[in-house]
Amino acid sequence: MTAAAAPTTARARPAPPADLARRAAELEAADALGDLRGRFDLPDDGSVYLVGNSLGALPRAVAPAVADAVQRQWGRSRVGAWNTEGWWTAPQRVGDRIGALLGAAPGQVVVGDCTSVQLHKVHLAAAAEARRRGGPDGGDRSGGRRVVVADPGSFPTDLYVLASDARLAGLEVVLAPPQQVPAVLAARGEEVALVALSQVDYRTGELWDLPGLTRAAHDAGALVLWDLCHSAGVVPAGLDEHDVDYAVGCSYKFLNGGPGAPAWVYVPHRLQAGFANPVPGWNSAARPFAMTGDFSPAADVAVARTGTPQVISLLALEAALTAFDGVDVSAVRARSLSLTGFALEALDALVPEVEVVTPREPDRRGSALALRHPRAWGLARALHARGVEGDFRAPDVVRWGVAPLYLTHADVLAAVVALRAVLDAGEHEAAERSERPTVT
Ligand SMILES: Cc1ncc(COP(=O)(O)O)c(C=O)c1O
Repeated sequence: MTAAAAPTTARARPAPPADLARRAAELEAADALGDLRGRFDLPDDGSVYLVGNSLGALPRAVAPAVADAVQRQWGRSRVGAWNTEGWWTAPQRVGDRIGALLGAAPGQVVVGDCTSVQLHKVHLAAAAEARRRGGPDGGDRSGGRRVVVADPGSFPTDLYVLASDARLAGLEVVLAPPQQVPAVLAARGEEVALVALSQVDYRTGELWDLPGLTRAAHDAGALVLWDLCHSAGVVPAGLDEHDVDYAVGCSYKFLNGGPGAPAWVYVPHRLQAGFANPVPGWNSAARPFAMTGDFSPAADVAVARTGTPQVISLLALEAALTAFDGVDVSAVRARSLSLTGFALEALDALVPEVEVVTPREPDRRGSALALRHPRAWGLARALHARGVEGDFRAPDVVRWGVAPLYLTHADVLAAVVALRAVLDAGEHEAAERSERPTVT
């Protein structure tokens, strides 16, 4: 999240060096996806919005859809809208639309709650699944698989929820960065119930090897959970193709669902029957309206639901996802790589003194760049004053989220040119002393 208020004044962009401007135009012309900015409601003031990895920009389809949901559906159809407007089935319907962007066939993604709660459900369901499967010999090895391997660099909520779940379920958490996970599996594979990782590191933008790490976990007999908060909408995860066991993610970043948009969870068909949802509610029951005291779980992905869905937010998200209509996510990935690759070229040429933390290899880059600087807070604020919105991650990182649907090569060049200007004028030094709001 970022607390930065939108820049209020239109600002002429300083002229970029001619060779880089030419290159930006060439890359833009060569890109197959093209600029879909017209699908978004963005100010035409020269500003550059690089915070789509925190809160995606507003798709144009959202406001009319929300107005319709409130005024016509709620206002006129009232309770009947649960049936007539498809409110009840929205969690699965919208889940299928997200699944299509993640390489998941219909019926395996359901939307609801927040990512933290979805992580809780999956940690405990996976622990139960591992117990049910027993050891490598298929026998009862009660207590045999009690380890969850997780990245110490995970987003904090992943670690907080996991620590609590480990206490609840008697699990041991072993922290290892993704590159060390194969070694942990080699040493303790028979004890591992679950490997829980993020595909893209939220701080550095590094993309981890989802297919390879999933294979390694499976070879050791372990299950795998991927947090795809920073992948959904920009990296084709290939969930079915790579035989992923569980995945979760939010929808307010590159899926542009809006502040507080509901999260989603992927439970493949093969794991739905045994999915021991630790928060079973009436929406996860086979017959929600039977109103009986005995819980009988739904036989499909609804088993991962809990309670009444956040309908207005769901319908806003459904409308937001129309920004992906007719778009192949592999073309989105190609444009993302072109934009971040060009940003790296421009950074090298214009601001070589700023360290780029994000790996340079395309297959190790998500859709964000992390710039390290001792005055990172000041840099983020000074850039904001120049109409370039990025965010700050303590202690010393400026993050630039690169949303391929609404950013152009000229935009990323304008951001780098602004960074050069900030550094030349020393604007970051004064800005470093500006107040840090609660939400940065
Ligand atoms: C990787 C990752 N996981 C989880 C979350 C937060 O999840 P929640 O939807 O519970 O706020 C974020 C938020 O930025 C995140 O980056």
